[in-house]
Order: sequence, then C-alpha cells, then structure tokens
Amino acid sequence: PATPSAQPPHAQVLVASNRGPVAYSAAPDGTLQAKRGGGGLVSGLSAIGPDTDAVWVCAALGDDDREAARQAAQRAAGRTGKLDPEDTGGQSVRMLDIPEETFRDAYNGVANSVLWFVHHLLYQTPVEPSFDEDFTRQWTSYERYNAAFADALAEEAGEGAVVLVQDYHLTLVPALLRARRPDLRIGHFSHTPWAPPDYYALLPDETAAQVLRGILGADRAGFLTWRWAEAFADCCARVLGAEVTSREGGHELTVSYEGRTTRVGVHGLGADADFLRERAHRDDVAERMAQLRTQVGTGPDGAPRRTVVRVDRTELSKNIVRGLRAYRRFLADHPEWHERVVHVAFAYPSRQDLEVYRDYTDEVSRVADGINAEFGRGGWTPVVLHVKDDFARSLAAYRLADVALVNPIRDGMNLVAKEVPVVSDDGCALVLSREAGAFAELGEDALVVNPYDVTATAEALHEALTMERDERAERTKRLAAAATALPPERWFLDQLNALR
Ligand code: G6P
Repeated sequence: PATPSAQPPHAQVLVASNRGPVAYSAAPDGTLQAKRGGGGLVSGLSAIGPDTDAVWVCAALGDDDREAARQAAQRAAGRTGKLDPEDTGGQSVRMLDIPEETFRDAYNGVANSVLWFVHHLLYQTPVEPSFDEDFTRQWTSYERYNAAFADALAEEAGEGAVVLVQDYHLTLVPALLRARRPDLRIGHFSHTPWAPPDYYALLPDETAAQVLRGILGADRAGFLTWRWAEAFADCCARVLGAEVTSREGGHELTVSYEGRTTRVGVHGLGADADFLRERAHRDDVAERMAQLRTQVGTGPDGAPRRTVVRVDRTELSKNIVRGLRAYRRFLADHPEWHERVVHVAFAYPSRQDLEVYRDYTDEVSRVADGINAEFGRGGWTPVVLHVKDDFARSLAAYRLADVALVNPIRDGMNLVAKEVPVVSDDGCALVLSREAGAFAELGEDALVVNPYDVTATAEALHEALTMERDERAERTKRLAAAATALPPERWFLDQLNALR
C-alpha cells in the first residue's frame, strides 16, 4: 500500500537551479565535506536565507567528483530527499537524484555544449554544430531532467507559491510545471546572454521552438540586461510568430503566444559590497597579497611592478587566449614597460568533461608560457598564471590590481568587472568588453574594447596603465557605485515582487 506523504506541500517560495548552494567534496581521508557552492547564481540566490520556508531544488552538488557529491547528498538527504541543514547553512535544499547518464546528456550534452554555445556565439560554424542521433538522445535526457525538476517542484510547492527557475539548464521547466500546477506563479531567469535570431536558428527547428515555449510557460522571464531580453523577444517573434509589445516606457516587454502572455523584465545582478569588503579584509587575503607582491616583484627602479589582473573560469567565452595575445602585443609595442609590469592571470579550470574545454585550458598555458619565453628575463616573469581556484587569492588580486582585464566574447553579466572596483585598494582601471552584460552599467567609466580586436585591446591596456592616479580613483569610485546598484538580496526580492 502507498504510504501517505508525511506533510502536505507547503513552500511558498521555491528556487530551481542545476547547481545547488552547497558543494560536496571528498577529503583526503575519504570523509565528505560540504562548503558553499560558487558562482554568481549561487551568491545571488543565497539571499533567500535560511529563515524562510523556501525550498531550493537542485541537481548538481559537486565540482569535480560528482559521484562523491551524489553519495554525500544522498546520505545527507535520506528518505526525504532534503539535505542536512548543517551542510547548507540552514537552507532547505532538495537534491534530485538524476541518473548519471541522463545528467551527463542533459548537462554536458545539451546545456553546456549546445545552449551555452548558441547563446555565447561559440560555434565554428563551417564544422559545427551538427545535430545527429547523439543530439536526439541527449535532448530526450534534457527533457527527462527538466521533467524531474517539474515533478519535484510540483510536489514541494504550496498553493499559489512563487517558483523561480534558473538558467539554460531548465528552460522546459516553466511550461512543464504550469501543466502540473496552474496555480503557481512561475518565473524564469537567464544568467547567460540570449542569442540573436539568426544565430539561434542554428538549433533544430523543433528544439528552438520547444526552448522558447518552455520559458513562455513562465509568467515572467528575467534577463541580466535589455540586450538579452530583446534578443529573447525577437526569437519568440521569429521562431514562434509570438506577438511582442513594449510596456511601461520600455521597462517591460510582453510576449503573447497561444493565449498566454509572459512579461519580460531585466534585473542586473550587482556585487555584494558588504560581503566582499568584509571578506577581502580577512587575514588569509592579506597573506595572499603579500605572496602576490613577492611574485610580482619590483622593477629596475625599485618600485613595485604594475599589475594587469584577470580572474575567470577557464571558459571559452571568457576570451583568455586573446587577452594574453593582447598583452603580448602590448609588450612588443611598448618595450618601455618591460620589467615594470606583470600580468596576473587566474584561470580556474571549468567543465573539464568537455574536450574543447581541456584543449582550451592547455592553449591558455601554452600561450602564457610562450610570452614568458619570449620576453622574460632574470627576475621578471611577464605572466603569472594560476589555475587552482582560491577565492582569497582572487580577492587579494582584486585589491592590488592596477588594471583589470575583462574581455569576454560574450557574457551574461560578468561579476568580476563589478567586484574589482568594489574591493580595489588604490583604484583600478577596467578594460571591459562591450559584449559583457556589465558594459550596459559600467561602460562609461571603463576602457571599452571589441573583444576580437587584439590590437585595440593591447592599446587599451597601455592606456589603462598610463591613466593618472586621480582619474583612476575617480572612475573606480563611480564603477563601484554602478556595480552595487542592485545587490543580490534586492535582485532576488525584486524578482519575487515582480511575480507577486
Ligand atoms: C554560468 C551559468 C551558471 C553556472 C556557472 C558555472 O554562470 O549561468 O548557471 O552555474 O556558469 O558553470 P557550471 O557548469 O560550472 O555550473
């Protein structure tokens, strides 16, 4: 006989995302450890805090060892599927136990190799993409993976609850959930850019339509900037023939399709100034600043060398290789800077299950080594590359950077561009790609570059390094103000309110 469920569904606020707020890893002695998960999405959503009855539904809980994470989560979750609140900072988290192959197809196959590539314009189109029987299988897994989320949310949600579904992993959830629970208020938020219609049309027609219909199942679709919101609406018009209107003086778009209307709005996630400033002034950060200063060293005149800093996941869209080439160009064109500057590049490996990411990671090291071989000399290493993720060291680099290089091919927002000005000690010049979502808010006080233009980026580095101290400090102040306009907590509450 079926056992009656222990409790009726009760949550009034629910969040769904692939990656959860906790990351499990195996310690050297085999015990499993939990720490707060990384990434902009997690910092934004952590604002829901432990004191509400909110439930967070997620699938992925580990960085490198998924199996260990899965075991830990299952042990912590037990029969209820809920994690031990000790591991989650009090947050109520339900971890879905998705079969390994389904997860791999949905996450690596569809989400990271197709949807991510489309929205970041990453394909080398003469040879890719090609959608064949592998994709057909992966898409079926993606549907199953989305359905598992919709089922869990439908189970957990109280009458009339608000559900915030996150990102490209879960585009089908809003429509699936609406079919199961028409009483809910559903939002979807995209943390990525959205592809323009011509590029979006690379997707198989039915897939292109299904993704849009999935998101249009929501009452509201959120984006990080207007550029991505408008691209989404354009795709709805082009692919589905949906009707798009602009409302409230352009502060909201609506997309009407098959008798329903979805509002499209923008919430530009900002940096968390209080958290960052407090965290950046702890002892471990001071320790790493001292280490970095030693590594960077002093120039021929005895003054500390200047620094060009970048901090990224080693991600194709981050454009790390062109950034290094621009720095090489700069050194070649401006020999007066030899021995007086160091490029501190933190490139933390990401999505290493995918060959193209492994190759890219190798390429980053190769190009950095090449620059050091070409220009380095006794006591001066022109590029210091670190690949081991260390948040305290990233903050240390933010504090002492003279120049921050943020040059993505395309980026939903880019929080590094917003975090650096907030914690910078003496002001930092920002070289920023016009293709990052952050450009909309920071463009005025940054040195803006076309990310494909290595020559122009090299010149921007020169301009940044020669910027007067006062001007740099003034710009940094304005950048910090713009970067913190919508801190994570408000970003989250604004979305809830817009749905209510
Ligand atoms: C982007 C996505 C997030 C994702 C993050 C890290 O910022 O928008 O949803 O969590 O990348 O990617 P990963 O594949 O490591 O979860």
